[in-house]
Amino acid sequence: MDLKCDYGKIAPSYDRYRDLSPELLEGWLGVLIRWGRPSPGMKALDIGCGTGRLTIPLQRLTGAEVWGLDLSEEMLEQARQKKGAAGVHWVLGDAQALPFPEGAFDFAFMCLVLHHLGDKAQAIREMHRVLRPGGRGLVWTVSHRQIRESPLNAFFPSLAEIDLARFPSIREIRALMEGAGFSAIREEELAFQEETPTSCYLERVRNRYISTLELLSPAEFASGLAKLEKSLANKRDQMTRTQQFTIIVGER
Ligand SMILES: C[S@@+](CC[C@H](N)C(=O)[O-])C[C@H]1O[C@@H](n2cnc3c(N)ncnc32)[C@H](O)[C@@H]1O
Repeated sequence: MDLKCDYGKIAPSYDRYRDLSPELLEGWLGVLIRWGRPSPGMKALDIGCGTGRLTIPLQRLTGAEVWGLDLSEEMLEQARQKKGAAGVHWVLGDAQALPFPEGAFDFAFMCLVLHHLGDKAQAIREMHRVLRPGGRGLVWTVSHRQIRESPLNAFFPSLAEIDLARFPSIREIRALMEGAGFSAIREEELAFQEETPTSCYLERVRNRYISTLELLSPAEFASGLAKLEKSLANKRDQMTRTQQFTIIVGER
C-alpha cells in the first residue's frame, strides 16, 4: 500500500476544502494556546505548517514570534499569500532535520503531520532538541479508536485500514516522546462539532478533503461517494459534523 501524499499537488485546493470555520478555528487555537501558552516575547514553531491555517492566526492572536516550517514549497507559497503572513517566519525544511539551533523555542507543535513522516522517532527528537528546557512540545493526531469511529468508514471500507497503518498509536507516540527525553507527558482527547451545509460537506468529500481519501482506489472512492450522496439525499440542508483528535504534550 502506497501511503504517500503529494502536498505539492494538494496545495492549491488545500484551503478550499480543508478550511476551518471560525468556530472550529477558535476551538483548535484554544487548545494550542492552553497548552503552549504563547505570548509576546515567546517563540513558537509550527512544524509541518502547510498553508499556515493555524500559524498565522496563532501569531495574530497571541503576539508571539512564530515560525512555520514545511517540506512543501507549494504549501508555503499558499501560506505566504495570506493576510497576516508577513508576521510569520516561513521556512522550507524537514521535520526530521530542523534547521534551528538547540533550545530555540518555547513551544513547538505538529498538527496532523507525524503520520506523514518516515522517521517519526527522529522528528520527535528534533522537536525536543529545538525546545528550551521547560519548553513544551505538542503532537496533534488521531487515535486508533477515533479512526475506527469515523462515520466515513461506513462508505469507504478501506479508510480505517489505511489510517490504522499510517497513524502511530497514542502509546507509540508517548513512547517516542519518552525516548526523546520529554517529561510530564499528558494527553487530551478533543471533539469539535460544526454545523455545515450538507452540500458543502459533500463537496469536501468529492474533493478528498482528508488525505486518506487520496489513497483509496478510484473504484472504492467512486462507489463510496455514490453511497454517501444517496444517504445524505434525504437529509435536511444542514448537518452536524464531528471531528475527533488527540493531543500529546510533553516538556523538555
Ligand atoms: C495534513 S497537512 C497539515 C498542515 C497543517 N499542520 C494544518 O494542520 O493545516 C501535513 C503537512 O505536513 C507537511 N510535511 C510532510 N512531510 C514533512 C516533513 N518531512 N517535514 C515538514 N513538513 C512535512 C506537508 O507538506 C503538509 O503541509
